[in-house]
This record gives sequence, structure tokens and C-alpha cells, in this order.
Amino acid sequence: MRKLYIAILFLVVISGTFGCKGPKNGDTDAAIERRVDSVLKLMTLEEKIGQLTLFTSDYDVTGPTMRENYKEDIKAGKVGAIFNAYGVDYVRELQRMAVEETRLGIPLIFGYDVIHGHRTIFPISLGESASWDTAMVRKAARIAAIEATAEGLQWTFAPMVDIARDPRWGRISEGAGEDVFLGQCMAVARVKGFQGNRLDDPRTMVACAKHYAAYGAAQAGRDYHTVDISERTLREVYLPPFKAAVDAGVGTFMTSFNEIAGVPSTGNRYLLTDILRKEWGFQGFVVTDYTSINEMVAHGFAKDEKEAGELAINAGVDMDMQGAVYYNYLKKSIEEGKVSMATVDEAVRRVLRMKFKLGLFDNPYLYCNKQREQNEIMTTEHLAFARDMARKSIVLLKNEAQILPLSKEIKSLAVIGPLADNRRELIGSWSAAGDWSKAVTILEGIYGAVSPATKILYARGCNINDDTVSFISDAVNKARQAEVVILVVGEAHWMSGEAACRSELGLPGVQQQLADAVIATGKPVVTVLLSGRPLTIPQLAQKTRALLAAWFPGTMAGHAVADVLFGEYNPSAKLPVTFPRSVGQIPIYYNMKNTGRPMDPNNKYTSKYLDVPNDPLFPFGYGLSYTTFEYSDLQLSAEKINASDTLYVKVKVKNTGKYSGEETVQLYVRDLVGSVTRPVKELKGFYKVFLQPGEEKQVTFKLTANDLAFYDIHMKFTSEPGDFIVFVGGDSQHCLQKGFVLE
Ligand code: NOJ
Repeated sequence: MRKLYIAILFLVVISGTFGCKGPKNGDTDAAIERRVDSVLKLMTLEEKIGQLTLFTSDYDVTGPTMRENYKEDIKAGKVGAIFNAYGVDYVRELQRMAVEETRLGIPLIFGYDVIHGHRTIFPISLGESASWDTAMVRKAARIAAIEATAEGLQWTFAPMVDIARDPRWGRISEGAGEDVFLGQCMAVARVKGFQGNRLDDPRTMVACAKHYAAYGAAQAGRDYHTVDISERTLREVYLPPFKAAVDAGVGTFMTSFNEIAGVPSTGNRYLLTDILRKEWGFQGFVVTDYTSINEMVAHGFAKDEKEAGELAINAGVDMDMQGAVYYNYLKKSIEEGKVSMATVDEAVRRVLRMKFKLGLFDNPYLYCNKQREQNEIMTTEHLAFARDMARKSIVLLKNEAQILPLSKEIKSLAVIGPLADNRRELIGSWSAAGDWSKAVTILEGIYGAVSPATKILYARGCNINDDTVSFISDAVNKARQAEVVILVVGEAHWMSGEAACRSELGLPGVQQQLADAVIATGKPVVTVLLSGRPLTIPQLAQKTRALLAAWFPGTMAGHAVADVLFGEYNPSAKLPVTFPRSVGQIPIYYNMKNTGRPMDPNNKYTSKYLDVPNDPLFPFGYGLSYTTFEYSDLQLSAEKINASDTLYVKVKVKNTGKYSGEETVQLYVRDLVGSVTRPVKELKGFYKVFLQPGEEKQVTFKLTANDLAFYDIHMKFTSEPGDFIVFVGGDSQHCLQKGFVLE
């Protein structure tokens, strides 16, 4: 007998409660618990350890692989989940091995890094976050889930909810940027998008909040590096997006590679059990990052892999990704009494519970539908959405003398730069099963937008990342012949993402030289910047007439960029992260502390640099539109509130330009005096408002004492009476402001 569900059916029927093959709207939690227990009772220790083991397939490897014979492991019941395998036929074959060829027939879970789309690729997560549009971001995750599940997957290693304040760190591209509040909103949108309303819906997949915790605080912006932050910073800055993911119902968590204050996350019981489970009530399972149990040996936290495994499972890690530590040593650790059977059973229960919730016990092939694979991938609707998502992620950073939007009837254009006719880079890093050859280049997008009479002169100018200067003269010649130059420069896709940190953040290679030469022609230059992070480009920003931060826009890149360049879409995105002037300013983010000697240009002994201003090149929340918005009449419903009141903050926003457009109205607060110091500004709300030319709307925000709470001197999460300032504006620097008192 290889069919576990028959065994379960028997157990359940004799207990006289729920049938195993319950209706597709799923079992109650109590029924799932009974079914989990009934499976657990049948399992040997080896089979239990198998459920806690996750191996990569040979399809797509995202780290150093360790096992070649994983198919044998599946058949032996030594694997509970597989990642990096997709495609209905392949998944069905692996699932068949688990279901048909193992003693108990427990189905596998199939996971993959579906980060910003599966086949249809959306902008990198940082770019999506620049839209500040949670409904759009949620829908992007929804579509990613539809496509991924159509190819056999039901688990994504996303969202990455790490706050990142150091653009040297390549993984800044994978998250929502520097801000806690925006990070929380994006975490919720993505979790809900991936998971939908029910996990056993074959078009939803279980999400994974990663990398828990504080991975983004790596010293010197170097990947995998040490983190040493205060408990307060951990709780106020790095944990809230994880907590928001838990509250949104996220099903799994991934531990991070880093240590915090000497304790690697993968062995950190305080993080994994005390905070995650006891404080936050997380019910799902925890997986490690790729071999991060093994790495606790190199960290100097465990003397060998066996001990590392003991530390991990006793801390609260349920599943071992690719490390084969549980696989190799857990049995021995149990025999030696280093790990209790109850701990293992609890971890197995969590994994089995998820398999029930995903509907895999009822139908192990629920996600193996050939028709869906043919019909639901890269559909017209998905591509249209990708175009819209991409144009909503493009931030207009400069538009001198309103050079943009360009006329589609323009007589001639020079399109210059190593990324102008490049396809490969457009889908960015972590682009899952995305096929870059299907991406629309910027040049193609421009051709598609302008009149057939427009003369387009293309020149590569230089390569992305080498020192070849020989094509620059061709670019200069072409620039001279054109009315306007569109310069497309930036990073290669591999320069951000995992293990892709940079110590210099200027344009790579000789691109700055190309930009200088083209700008020196005197022709107006419009720069389209593609990158996985903020770049330090003060010189370019000063000399170019217009500047668009387009991140890596995904499959529909070219059309989206062209929509913005030629006014089909009026840009509305806002920076989710600060653009520094120089690497030396890093970390630089808007909600810093004031210091005891705030910057005073006339006083040497204040907090500043000798060689660069304190302020950034472009601040958090910044982004222009082809129209202009005027803020007025900021009103607070009261001058004083108490802890149970709601403060209504109203502001009028008027479209004072000639295009209709969308503005993201941002609300910040400052707590002037606290038992511990507070940041100079904290984002507490935002609202997107669409206005026709001349139209004015009033936007209302609500603030309660809970929005003003923080970890006080005793580490109690509370608000403190005193004076506050509310700021409302279109970015973190330009705001109207008013004070109020919390009594
Ligand atoms: C390592 C990365 O840190 C993590 O984000 C990813 O999900 C896993 N590899 C699996 O590919």
C-alpha cells in the first residue's frame, strides 16, 4: 500500500468525523490537525526527517549544490520538498516518485524564487515598490502565483521584506527599500497577492517572508556579512515588515544568513521561537536559507554540522534547505538526546499541516495541469498588466524646462547607450523562469511609439562594464545629428541581487565618459537609468535635461519606458529609497536621528562632511510628474489629542499643471522629545490621488496614538505624551507641517 490518503481515510472514517477527501473548500483547522496526527503516527523517524529536508533539483540552481542523486532521495522518502523544479511534466514526474514510490506516499511541496513574476516578469521588487501602489503590487504577486502554479509550483521564496538602507548591498533590489511603513504595506500586498484567499486554490501559492532577520543591515553593505544592531533598531526597523507578513497570514518564513549580535539567525531561538511563535503567534513553518545551518560552523557558532543542526532545530527551524544536515545527523542527535522527539514531531507537523492546507494530500497533482500551463502563462492580460506595472514604477527625477514628454512626431532622435538595445538586462536579477529573450528593448519601445517619419539613430556608445571607448565617437556623431538624445545607461542585471554588492555606485565601465561626451554636444539629453539600486550620479543628474529611474522594468520594459517618454503615461512613481550623492554618505535615509549637533553650515563643529553636503541627491519619496501639484490648507482636527482619540489630518492637493496625473500624498510625523530619541521624520501614511488639470481634492489621514508608538526606554511599545509635528507633502523633504500635542 503506497497511498497514504487511503490510510488516512481509514483512520478518519473510523474516528467518525471528516472524510479525507473533503470538499475543495477545505477542511477546518481541527480536521487538518486530526489528519496531520494520523499521518504522523504512521511515520518512522527517517520519514519524519525526510519531511524536514528540502533539496534543489538540477533545473535551476541558486547556490552551491550538494546532492546529485536527489531523485533517489525522493524515492527513499528522504525529501519533503523540492525547489528549483518547475514545468508540469517534470513536477508531475517528481511528485509521482514521492506519491507512488515511497512507503507512505506523502506529496512533495515544490518551491521556487518567484520574486517579481514567474514567466511574465514585472519590475524588480524595488521598482514595483516605487509605484507605492499596493493594489498593483498585490496584483503582480497574484499573476506571478497564477503563472507559477500553472507550472507545478505552490511555494514561493518571496516576499523579501528586508529593510535595506545600504545601496551597496545588491539585495536592496529585492525588497521595498528603506522605509518601515512602506515595507510593511508592500509585505502585506505581496503576501496577499501570492496566497490569495485560500491556499488550496490551485492558483495560489504559499509565500515565505525572508530573510528573517535584519539581513539588510549587513556591515559595509557586503552580502552575508555580520549584523550588529540594537534590540530597539531590530524591533523598530527590521522586524515590523515580518510582523506585518505574519498578520497577513504568511505561511512560511526563511531564516537569514547573517548573525545578529553574535547569534546566527538560523540558530537564534529568541528570533525564531520567542518572537516569531510566542509573541507573534506564527503558525506556519520555518525554512533555512541555502545551507545556512552548515554555515553556522564557519560563523564559529557550532563546532560541526551535527551541532549546527541541533542548534537550528532547537531554535525553531523546521526545514533544512539544501544543507543535508538534518538528513545526515538529526537521527544521531535524537539518539544522543540532544534533540527531543517532541521537537521533531512539532516541526514535521508544521510541514504536514502546510501540505494539507495546500490541498496536496487531497490531490498531489493539483498544480499539475497541462491546460493551465498552456493557457495561463504570459497571456495578453498578464503582459498588459506588466506594462502598466512597469510604467507605474518609473520615477521621474528631473525634467528641466519640461523637455518630457517628447512629441511622437519629433523629427529625429538619437538613442544611445549600452542598455538601449539590450534585452538581457531588462528583467533584472531573480527573474525566476522569465525568458529575457521575450523582453521588449527600450529601442523597440521607442520605435513602437514614435511616428514612422521620426528618424532614429542608434548607437551603443560603449559596453556596460568594460573600458572600451572606441564606440563613443559614433555615439557623439549620432547625437549631433538628432534633435534630442535618449541615453540609456546603468547596471547589468547581475550587478544586483544576491552576492552582487558594489563598493562604488557610479555608472559602471566607461558609461559616465559616454554620458559626458554626449552631453558635451549640447544636444538635450534625456537619461533613462536602469539599475537594481540607487546609483551615485550627481554629475549626470546635474547635466542631463531629464532623468528617469526605470530600475529593471521587466518583460514589457521598452513599451513602459516609451509610454513615459512620449506621454502615454504621466509618471507617478516615488523613490522607495534615498539616492545618495556619494558612497561616503551611506547609510543615508530620510528618517535619521537629529544628533546633538545638527548640521549648521556656519558652525564647523556640527554633524557634516567636509567634502559633500549632508542631503541626498534625491530624497526618499521624491518623484516628479508632467503636471504639478500644489499642497495647501493643512488642517488637524485638534491641537491636542489623548491616547484614545483619532486625529484627522486634512490637506488640499491641486493639480496646477496641464496634464492629468496621480500624486502620492505622504504623511510623516516627528515626536519631538522622547524617553529615547526619535527620528526626524517617520512615514505613517500615504494616499494616491488622481487629479485632472485644475482639479483639487482634499485628502484625509487618520492618526491614533498607536501610530505614534515606539519602544520606550524600558523597551515597552507605547506612545509618550508630548509635542509632535505632522508633515504632509509629495516627498520626505518638501512638506507642509503643523504641530499637535498628545496628552
Ligand atoms: C539563497 C537566497 O538568499 C534566498 O533568497 C533564496 O530564496 C534561496 N537561495 C533559494 O534560491
